[in-house]
Amino acid sequence: AANKKLLVLAGDGIGPEVMGEVKRVAAWMGSQRAVGFDIDEALVGGCSIDANGVPVTDATMDKAMTVDAVLLGAVGGPKWDGVDFSIRPEAGLLRLRKDMELFANLRPALVYPALADASSLKREIVEGLDILIVRELTGGVYFGEPRGITDLGNGERRGINTQVYTTSEIRRVAAVAFELARKRGNRLCSVEKMNVMESGRLWREEVTRLHQEQYSDVQLSHMLADNCAMQLVRNPKQFDVIVTDNLFGDMLSDEAAMLTGSLGMLPSASLGAPDAAGRRKALYEPVHGSAPDIAGQGKANPIATLLSFAMMLRYSFDLGTEADLIEGAVSDVLDRGIRTADIAGTGAAQLVSTGDMGTAILEAMAQRSR
Ligand code: NAD
Ligand code: IPM
Ligand code: MN
Repeated sequence: AANKKLLVLAGDGIGPEVMGEVKRVAAWMGSQRAVGFDIDEALVGGCSIDANGVPVTDATMDKAMTVDAVLLGAVGGPKWDGVDFSIRPEAGLLRLRKDMELFANLRPALVYPALADASSLKREIVEGLDILIVRELTGGVYFGEPRGITDLGNGERRGINTQVYTTSEIRRVAAVAFELARKRGNRLCSVEKMNVMESGRLWREEVTRLHQEQYSDVQLSHMLADNCAMQLVRNPKQFDVIVTDNLFGDMLSDEAAMLTGSLGMLPSASLGAPDAAGRRKALYEPVHGSAPDIAGQGKANPIATLLSFAMMLRYSFDLGTEADLIEGAVSDVLDRGIRTADIAGTGAAQLVSTGDMGTAILEAMAQRSR
């Protein structure tokens, strides 16, 4: 088969560190002839501001639009806190999501058996947890108009953002969530605040209508977002798939990360609508950020980014066996007590660097394929 074309956007902070381990795994897979990759690299975020004055260039956007999949590390950091709001590092990532129309963001939270004690919650609460948050990614308060800061002239200023959703925006992300629920535990919980927000009211009505029309075989429930935040730490195993808006999804997925032990464990896939040939535009990235507090020290956990690469194999290229190989190797390494600092907790036999974690996972992959 032809090589897959990838665009790697390592970004800032720990982005290049964790992405380095993905490049090693990609090269290993190529050497095994299971699947080959042609990797192009470009700048995004603060490093692109430094080099080009903008967080992502049009040329990089053109590349992102034409490759088979985009892999992103992380963007941002204190160095760029002072730049104009419209060209912040994060604006580069938001442009990628918006222009590629990646409206469905899949954020699975899975507790690996060896890490059940690494969570800040009790073992019995998180053991065996396997939930999926589907976050709407191109709408809501992240992109709504009007927005901005205006001077009211009387010494007061006003900051405005707008929460807005349309029928079709709600229905397309809900459809992705219903489809995924069918392939899992067949349960979907839709989360909004219909008690205070009209956009939440519309969300609940449209999800309910779509359920009646096309997905009545899936068990649908609804929950207010504040209750969901509480239920996620009270009894997270009650959930299978959660579908929610852009901002609630951002917060609830960080919360879900701590159920797994660390933000350094959580991968994500951002998907667009399928084209005529059934191919979706896609970007894969860890849920965590650039972690300025540990950047450059070789301490970052590369697992979230490696698992994002595995999601790419599964969702973009239908290479389930290869994805299983990476996920299985991660599990093996954790079973052996090999840990980066963020998941050290209890049961750590060996504290390792980013690169040594990558090496251990590569070795486990080689062992499994012998
Ligand atoms: P963060 O996710 O970067 O870090 C939060 C905490 O988690 C830190 O203590 C960090 O050390 C730890 N952490 C994160 N990833 C880790 C890993 N792989 N291994 C070990 N520890 C890890 O969030 P923040 O500090 O609020 O944000 C820092 C910058 O990152 C900001 O500029 C923010 O906008 C940006 N950010 C970017 C993305 C992205 O690129 N997708 C996501 C979130 C935040
Ligand atoms: C994430 C991040 C981004 C978001 C930022 C960096 C724009 O927190 O991917 O979760 O808020 O969506
Ligand atoms: Mn976030």
